[in-house]
Amino acid sequence: METPLSEKNDTLFVNCHLATMTGNTLSIIEKAALAVTGKNISWVGKQKDLPDNYTSKCRKTIDCNNGWILPGFVDCHTHLVWGGSRSDEFEMRLCGATYEEISQKGGGIFSTVKATRNASNENLFIRTSKRVDALLKKGITTLEIKSGYGLNLETELKMLDVIGQLNQTSPLQIDATFLGAHALPPEFSDNADGYINFVIHTLLPAVRNQGIATAVDAFCEHIAFSPDQIRKVFEKAESLGFNIKLHAEQLSDSNGAAMASEFNALSCDHLEYLSLSGAKKMAAHNVAAVLLPGAFYFLKETQKPPVKTFRALKIPMAVSTDLNPGSSPVHSMTLILNMACMLFNLTCEEALLGATINGAKALGLEQSKGSIETGKDADLVVWDIDTPSDLCYLAGLNPVDMVMIKGDIYHNDLND
Ligand code: NIG
Ligand code: FE
Repeated sequence: METPLSEKNDTLFVNCHLATMTGNTLSIIEKAALAVTGKNISWVGKQKDLPDNYTSKCRKTIDCNNGWILPGFVDCHTHLVWGGSRSDEFEMRLCGATYEEISQKGGGIFSTVKATRNASNENLFIRTSKRVDALLKKGITTLEIKSGYGLNLETELKMLDVIGQLNQTSPLQIDATFLGAHALPPEFSDNADGYINFVIHTLLPAVRNQGIATAVDAFCEHIAFSPDQIRKVFEKAESLGFNIKLHAEQLSDSNGAAMASEFNALSCDHLEYLSLSGAKKMAAHNVAAVLLPGAFYFLKETQKPPVKTFRALKIPMAVSTDLNPGSSPVHSMTLILNMACMLFNLTCEEALLGATINGAKALGLEQSKGSIETGKDADLVVWDIDTPSDLCYLAGLNPVDMVMIKGDIYHNDLND
């Protein structure tokens, strides 16, 4: 697990440019300086305007060599804890099998459920920490991780416990989401209502009691659960004080987003088949749209999410990896930025806002994360790029020079 490279918390960045991500734009400040005091950003502006007391000797000064500082990426939708591998299914899909066919034959999510049930807590923790460290080195500083590969009491709690341990031991803020209604487990085959009752009466109270998950998610789809079934889960989740979010309209239009909006969900995610009326409901309830181009790409989908409608209705668009072993084994936010532009026609500015401030909105963390503003957490990445759009354009490169989380440096390639 990463440990800070420097114990000194007061840092001054000079010779840098900033994309602060405020006011729904990149909000660029060229020839800038940025000061960090303790865990927070304490000054942001043009270097020539930097007050004298910010250059005092005790402060560690970092020369960014004209690099760009952006807020650390907020990856608001992942399934990072999993056992086993689905590379065999990847090869099956290359030969023409579809995600739904594999799922209907007991593969897909079910094969990961089997492997995750069989994995020890320790093994899951070690494997997932490596994934977290890899993401940190690529500029992700806040992460959401879902359960949902257990689908029984023991393994759902085990997954959430691993997420809780990661949040304690890794520098990233990691929010845990309970995704019990992800797929129908074999114990309840042909009895979806029975499983929904089990989620409501057994899993949800136990997850609340465990105290790690802050949100409840579900998969609303013909291969998973109906809006009526999920509504019952959300009613209980809401009464227990959880935030709500939903995998909605990924493979067909089930009207899930409209239902989740009635619970004032933080976000609805995927949304390729979202209808105009569903989008209007999301707008009316301030629900963020989380776009997941990695799953669209890996499943060779053709129906794109209604980006023009999101723009017209001013629905914040977040962009996330959806990192999981089946539909989106993509371990790179910059690659996802490229896909968001190339596959969903986002502008570079929209994609970058999606991976920062709108990702924070999708987690309800916009007060502390996702933009460069005084008082916010000093979660910052220095990039060796000529312009912010390089992060969308230079596909496959990882031009990270430095990663700071809450004022501590965890990765540093700058010769300071
Ligand atoms: O976000 N849509 C459902 N859940 C995941 C896929 C999980 C899996 O295939 O293992 C998703 O794409
Ligand atoms: Fe997902």
